[in-house]
Amino acid sequence: MLTETISPDLFRAALSRWASGVTVVTTTDADGRSHGFTASAFSSVSLDPALVLVCLDNRANCFDAFDQSEGFVIHLLAQGQEGLAGKFASKGADKFAGTDVRLSERGLPLLPGALARLECRTERRIPGGDHLILIGEVHHADQGDGEPLVYYQRGFHELIPAGASLA
Ligand SMILES: Cc1cc2nc3c(=O)[nH]c(=O)nc-3n(C[C@H](O)[C@H](O)[C@H](O)COP(=O)(O)O)c2cc1C
Repeated sequence: MLTETISPDLFRAALSRWASGVTVVTTTDADGRSHGFTASAFSSVSLDPALVLVCLDNRANCFDAFDQSEGFVIHLLAQGQEGLAGKFASKGADKFAGTDVRLSERGLPLLPGALARLECRTERRIPGGDHLILIGEVHHADQGDGEPLVYYQRGFHELIPAGASLA
């Protein structure tokens, strides 16, 4: 039986070599309060039905809101939204202050400026170690124009097409 485990530092260092997009995930609690967090642990899961997933740290302040909510919105961030990503990654911040938040028909917070928004019904929650895997069925999506915000080696980057000159 394999009992060997990797050191957390080595695991983090290896994962930092994975380039991803950046999302902000929002929901509303039973009292109508908005919650949200920045997430790079996002993936499509299934085309039919339309399923996606996002992983939420069990220690997040917004954990209970997402654990109990019937739905959430995943915002795929655009270049230039680094500030929004930083705000929604800051504990204790008034994350929605100064942002033009609208509520969807189902009462979920919609942020402007994203490359795409996926409004989801919570289909399943699966414990995944120190994170909770939220699987959502996408029932509404919209998209805008622009380039994606990229996260790589603990920093934000812009997308450059392969072969393009850096000069
Ligand atoms: C680029 C980036 C990606 C992140 N990805 C995740 C993620 O996938 N899941 C997660 O739980 N936290 C992630 N975080 C950290 C959370 O956004 C942060 O801890 C947030 O403040 C948690 O919400 P809370 O303020 O309600 O505790 C990420 C942070 C950054 C800057």
